[in-house]
Amino acid sequence: EKAGYKHFMAKEIAEQPIVLADAIKHMVAGNALNPPAEVDFAGVDRLTMVGCGTAYYACVVAKYWFEQIAGLPVDVDVASEFRYREPPITPNTWAIFVSQSGETADTLAALRYCRDKAAKIVAVVNVPTSSIARESDIALLIRAGVEVGVASTKAFTCQLTTLALMALKAAVDRGRLTPAELAQHIADLQALPGLVSQALRIAPEVAVIAEELAEAQDILFLGRGPLFPLAMEGALKLKEISYIHAEGYASGELKHGPIALIDARVPVIVLAPRDALFEKTVSNMQEVMARHGKVLLISDAAGVAEAGAGCWRTIAMPSVPNFLAPILYAVPAQLLAYHTAIAKGTDVDQPRNLAKSVTVE
Ligand code: M6R
Repeated sequence: EKAGYKHFMAKEIAEQPIVLADAIKHMVAGNALNPPAEVDFAGVDRLTMVGCGTAYYACVVAKYWFEQIAGLPVDVDVASEFRYREPPITPNTWAIFVSQSGETADTLAALRYCRDKAAKIVAVVNVPTSSIARESDIALLIRAGVEVGVASTKAFTCQLTTLALMALKAAVDRGRLTPAELAQHIADLQALPGLVSQALRIAPEVAVIAEELAEAQDILFLGRGPLFPLAMEGALKLKEISYIHAEGYASGELKHGPIALIDARVPVIVLAPRDALFEKTVSNMQEVMARHGKVLLISDAAGVAEAGAGCWRTIAMPSVPNFLAPILYAVPAQLLAYHTAIAKGTDVDQPRNLAKSVTVE
């Protein structure tokens, strides 16, 4: 069932162009969005988004999208904290629960907490028959297909794609996007699976870099804006399957503490698409290099040409519209974790101590 791949994770990473295209096809009709009829954000004042692990990081990326594109404020939390905090939910709030399995105990408990409080309960799930799908008012399917590897890969990019389409829908419903702008976003989304295919071609380069990363004790990931949650996702993926300690930080937080960790033994992976924050991220990266940190810069070819001098390694990604960068930059994060685990000889699909679906608290 691994279709010739050595691991389910490799297969699931490789499947992304196909499943993303499928997810997009189901939510777009021509130049317009085609979500379920009940998805109408007019009159919604606020979103509360909840998930665990990778699903939580998808929520954090989506916060940037909903706030920037649709002007809709978003609270976001991990389910285990949310459920016991007793957060007040204002009447025109939609509560969105993101879960691949749809069975995560804390996420389900958070959903139940919101049941009589939120205006609508929305599930963003992969398994249509799951508890979280069944107990929601609206279940949006991410259409990733079965994900076997414990480390979530294609489910993450499908979650992001579904949430990106929802953010566009919210922007339309709230009068924030012209038809021409929407058509451009849709065209960009339709080009995304092709960009992901191109991005997958960095795998051999990543495998070489991973041989050296496998020697590290600690690795930092840095990103700004919607690439900050990607930094956290990259760190989670790496620690899950390679057992190397890794942390994701907002680049601007570096000088508030983590820079003390930097020396010549600490690889620092900088996720820096050429967006409005590129120069700021590069200046944080230079602070790392000034302390002899080993920087791996991941940007597009122009970004690498502009800022790659003095880096330990660079990876040139295809150029991507800013809005979609967090989805495309999931690919190097996945490949780095995968190849580092291969270099270390760990169990990629069944890492120690972890379960695919966490159905107990
Ligand atoms: O099934 P869920 O999406 O609710 O699972 C949430 C987390 O347990 C899951 O994303 C976990 O963090 C993954 N192993 C990450 O790769």
